[in-house]
Amino acid sequence: MTCFVRGCDASVLIDSTPSNAAEKDSPANNPSLRGFEIIDNAKARLEIFCRGKVSCADIVAFAARDSIEITGGIGYDVPAGRKDGKVSLSSEASANLPPPTFNVNQLTQAFANKGLTQEEMVTLSGAHTIGRSHCTSFSSRLYNFNATTNQDPSLDPLYASQLRQQCPQGSTNPNLVVPMNPGSPATMDSGYYMDVVTNRGLFTSDQTLLTNQDTANQVNQNAMNVFLWRRKLAAAMVKMGQIGVITDDTGEIRSNCRKIN
Ligand code: HEM
Repeated sequence: MTCFVRGCDASVLIDSTPSNAAEKDSPANNPSLRGFEIIDNAKARLEIFCRGKVSCADIVAFAARDSIEITGGIGYDVPAGRKDGKVSLSSEASANLPPPTFNVNQLTQAFANKGLTQEEMVTLSGAHTIGRSHCTSFSSRLYNFNATTNQDPSLDPLYASQLRQQCPQGSTNPNLVVPMNPGSPATMDSGYYMDVVTNRGLFTSDQTLLTNQDTANQVNQNAMNVFLWRRKLAAAMVKMGQIGVITDDTGEIRSNCRKIN
């Protein structure tokens, strides 16, 4: 999703300075985003062997490709040649990244704003088959949901009670996290779609995909046919990697991914 903010220009990697709050420090990214040191390591090695040639933006795209290959065996080619941007603003993250409270229409619009279709939105949401979430991203679904029910009625009650144990009400511990696809949290499979079909989508933005006929059909198809989803995921990842790519002099190839040159 880093490409939703200023395109695939690695603006998300820039560190804040006393005079600039950078994208990574927006509440939309911090404390969620992690793994910056992996990118730093790759960059450091590349600078030794071919200095000034590979942008941080390309490294991020390659890292996404490699994680999908390693965790799911899904391989695809990523076009290279992105340059790195020179601007990173915290305010732009919350303005462009869809929050986990969005409904299907809002999600569709947020993806359309970036040139992605509703079907690509459903396909890419399948990335929630891997990784983890902080309790704060979904705890509003577990407690005091509305005047009549404590929990979000679209959430499986057994799963909700398990989540309440992992995420105690009013906990101020910002480190509490849960796997998003508890069945296989480190495997890029179609587990996400099985979760959504069984009312075990973790976020409102996951479960909402069942509320629209088209997106619900796609969720069901992806749940039943992992090969269909794998093909669609590869294509959608390539397309997402082309959002707002800089190739001219307004970009650069950073020597340190955390700082503009
Ligand atoms: C459809 C709109 C989306 C929303 C609203 C959304 C929201 C979120 C939220 C709230 C988290 C948990 C953050 C936290 O509490 O730590 C998360 C995690 C994650 N998301 Fe999304 N996301 C969306 C789409 C995507 C897409 C398109 C991808 C990639 C193709 C993606 C990949 C991930 C991954 C891999 C994680 C786990 C991160 C980790 O383990 O640290 N998400 N997402």
